[in-house]
Amino acid sequence: MAYGQNRKSVLKVSGLKTYFFTSEGIIKAVDGVDFEVKQGEVLGLVGESGCGKSVSALSILRLVPIPPGRIVAGKVEFMGKDLLKLNEREMRKIRGKKISMIFQDPLTSLNPVLTIGYQLAEVFRFHKNLDRIKSLKESIDMLKATEIPSSEERVKQYPHAMSGGMRQRVMIAMSLACEPALLIADEPTTALDVTVQAQVLRLMKRLCRDRRTAALLITHDMGVVANMCQRVAVMYAGRVVEYADVFTLFNSPAHPYTEGLLRSLPRVGVKQKKLDTIEGQPPILNRLPPGCAFTPRCKYAKEKCKEAVPELVSIGKGHEVRCYFPISGEQK
Ligand SMILES: Nc1ncnc2c1ncn2[C@@H]1O[C@H](COP(=O)(O)OP(=O)(O)OP(=O)(O)O)[C@@H](O)[C@H]1O
Ligand SMILES: [Mg+2]
Repeated sequence: MAYGQNRKSVLKVSGLKTYFFTSEGIIKAVDGVDFEVKQGEVLGLVGESGCGKSVSALSILRLVPIPPGRIVAGKVEFMGKDLLKLNEREMRKIRGKKISMIFQDPLTSLNPVLTIGYQLAEVFRFHKNLDRIKSLKESIDMLKATEIPSSEERVKQYPHAMSGGMRQRVMIAMSLACEPALLIADEPTTALDVTVQAQVLRLMKRLCRDRRTAALLITHDMGVVANMCQRVAVMYAGRVVEYADVFTLFNSPAHPYTEGLLRSLPRVGVKQKKLDTIEGQPPILNRLPPGCAFTPRCKYAKEKCKEAVPELVSIGKGHEVRCYFPISGEQK
């Protein structure tokens, strides 16, 4: 049975397209994104810089700047409701309470002139209508859950008095405070060193598991994917090009781009003179070729690949790929 077949769907994104209408033309930042996050599951969204990961996340919460951006097509079903059809008032009730988001740099999300305690308590006051004393108590408990030592003291501090890792743990505390059904984490640990990164990821994994929160984890680090996610959507030039459970993706990648991504990772027990890289330049989103956007860099490309964009098709249980000539077992 494919992974998570019986679980309830929390988020289902289908045919999502978000474009930016600029003086240099239309930038198709997200141009056909489909994926699903089920209850208690962590879905990884991976791909190189500029492929549309953050814009996909912002589109889910309807936070894309309009203009120049606009969601031109698709559906974002959250617990069965299409978020793209809600009005702004209804959307505000979802953001932060039912879906929360953690950004890469916690300093930009925390207010420098307010104490950590005040900012955490505000979440409880706003979303749970708790009074001042109760919300402060909840804030201290939440900080304790994130393993921040001497929480009673820490709540009186300002963000600058904390290390990057601690600030990111505060952000995780804040984003899980209202027990959202979905957590979106956009490169939550990229700015941290590796040991702190491991601590923060462990914490996120534990809190999500304890609260059965589903998560969408955006990263370009395949190591983080292997450690955290059950399913993975690989993006290239604004589109999902491969979608699979983590085991299948690492063991039998079917899209040449995924294969390239995995080849550029160091492998234990394999003697490598140098790490492989994906040849060629990342695509320019307002000047994409008519066919598959990966064609100019693909070593398996044929004439057909230049003609039209392939559809995302199923090649196995829960395994989908957007390629006319997916890599099969014999090719590897
Ligand atoms: N406000 C904007 N105006 C115009 N173009 C934008 C805007 N925001 C994003 N883009 C474009 O959309 C594309 C996708 O950007 P996005 O931020 O989603 O990339 P990403 O996959 O998150 O990359 P990274 O890994 O670097 O964070 C990029 O080409 C970017 O230049
Ligand atoms: Mg990004």
